[in-house]
Amino acid sequence: MNNTEPISPLDLSHSLPVPSVQELARSGEIPKRYLRPEAEANPVASVDDDELPAIDLEKLLSPELNNEEEVNRLGFACREWGFFQLINHGIPEEVIERMKDDIKKFFELPLREKEEIKQLPGHIEGYGQMFVHSEEQILDWGDVLVLIIQPSQNRNMRFWPTNPSTFRANLDAYTKKIGEVADCLYRFMAKDLGIDAEDILNLFSDQIQSVRINYYPPCKQADKVLGLSPHSDGTALTVLLQANDVHGLQIKKNDKWFLIKPTPGALIINIGDMIEVMTNGKYKSIEHRATINSEDERISIATFNAPSIDTILRPFPKLVNGDGELYKTISVKEYAKRYLSAKLNGKGALESMRLRK
Ligand code: OGA
Ligand code: NI
Repeated sequence: MNNTEPISPLDLSHSLPVPSVQELARSGEIPKRYLRPEAEANPVASVDDDELPAIDLEKLLSPELNNEEEVNRLGFACREWGFFQLINHGIPEEVIERMKDDIKKFFELPLREKEEIKQLPGHIEGYGQMFVHSEEQILDWGDVLVLIIQPSQNRNMRFWPTNPSTFRANLDAYTKKIGEVADCLYRFMAKDLGIDAEDILNLFSDQIQSVRINYYPPCKQADKVLGLSPHSDGTALTVLLQANDVHGLQIKKNDKWFLIKPTPGALIINIGDMIEVMTNGKYKSIEHRATINSEDERISIATFNAPSIDTILRPFPKLVNGDGELYKTISVKEYAKRYLSAKLNGKGALESMRLRK
């Protein structure tokens, strides 16, 4: 990489190189480094009788369709769940289907071809893994492709797949739509919180957007591995799309793991650490993890949206009330650095910012 290429906001940390899990899965080998104690990998208890809230974007947008009620439901989901599914989001089906197809095709390529865009030493973008910082660490059973999407001048095209040939255009179209949906949601969150929409939207005018495409191969000892360790997302708002029909995302609710089974066509949205800070804890960034299927591969694409790199993260004054600010003030850049330079550890990064309960 030559020195004139812009530094992307993700180049604040890197991950130690580890083997392709897709290849390991093919070989049938499960090295010790991936195995977790039973209790950690799979403390059962999915609460199936509690429905993940579904928020209807069409209702939010339409004044005649009881917008107020839907805003309240959105607020409830962000405060009590930190997660919801978004239905009637308005993204054309073909934009989503094309993205899914191209992601599947990319992971079907031989390793040699995928490695043409592998992560370089000291960088996080590209094909590889994330959050590996020591040789002793238990590893996640999954491969990733990480790309920075916005600001567009930070795109590092050497990591964008050219096979399938439509991948770049389809990723561009998909993430643009996701950005629009996120902006829409910020507007209605502002309404629920009783703050000026412009106060939130201004922070996101030059927003950072990145994607992590997750490939989780099947594993014969599925209950002894995890695809993605428990974590909360370090950014502001995440939009997750399952690229095939295999479930595996679990979120922590009342100290139990709850399996997310989205309605076909819905997007899964979650509050990240930055919004928890900006709302002084009113909206919750919830711990979640990805579990592995013993028979089938699972693929997802997470789009992370964050305010511009120099934004100072602090609660909106109107949301502080009598209890004062609950978190330390920090820039987006410093928080991203902190988040990326440790292994995933539940809500550890956010807790390190906490001033009081
Ligand atoms: C993530 C994430 C869950 C999944 O990428 O941050 O939580 O189901 N993914 O892939
Ligand atoms: Ni996540």
